[in-house]
Amino acid sequence: MDDILDLCDCSENYSMPLIGDRAPGFVASTTDGAVTFPDDFAGKWVVLFSHPSDFTPVCTTEFIAFQNDIKYFDEINTKLLGLSVGTLSSHLAWFDAISKMYNGANITFPLIDDMNMHVAKLYGMIHENASNTSAVRAVFIIDPKGIVRAILYYPAVLGRNLWEIRRMIIGLQTSDAFGVALPANWEPGDDVLAPAPTTNEAMRKHGNVSPWFLKYKELAERDIYEKICTKHGDKK
Ligand code: BEZ
Repeated sequence: MDDILDLCDCSENYSMPLIGDRAPGFVASTTDGAVTFPDDFAGKWVVLFSHPSDFTPVCTTEFIAFQNDIKYFDEINTKLLGLSVGTLSSHLAWFDAISKMYNGANITFPLIDDMNMHVAKLYGMIHENASNTSAVRAVFIIDPKGIVRAILYYPAVLGRNLWEIRRMIIGLQTSDAFGVALPANWEPGDDVLAPAPTTNEAMRKHGNVSPWFLKYKELAERDIYEKICTKHGDKK
């Protein structure tokens, strides 16, 4: 019998996307209706994130935090898309509970019903040794062309830092718009890094910097937000 089951194992081979890969497409049911990903989000940055379970403490604090920050994500042309291995009715009942807990707050971003774990497996959100029936806290930052630009994983017991997620998107958008890189602990308004020269001629033009491969330059916070934002975004 086991042999027959082995032979009948029709599970798909999943290979999660990595940074630089095209975000795998899927069609899913969500709390806002059916979603075709990434087509429905064309031209937008997307934070595709999973959480382990509805009606759990850390996840509840994360959902209200995401909702409270949604205007700041909007300002940087970013949409949120949540996922958990749960039914739509569970998601909706949880949203209702959140609303009662937080003065009528309405969760306005979609949450995927991924009961068959198809999307979670497609994106490497199931870490078998943590749980084989629920997703870890994964975050995929996907750009307007549908390319995965950053991936984060958090354990179940630790809620995400939403400013860090926004800082990453602002950093990626800054890098794209100004052709710069961002140093450790960079915050908008801090000095940025010029790309290291890759030819002898470029190294000479780089100026008299030491070491030759590391050159800071100023980039005002206002200039960043003017370029990437629909409105100036508060930090926290
Ligand atoms: C939580 O959201 O609090 C949680 C969820 C799954 C495991 C542990 C904590």
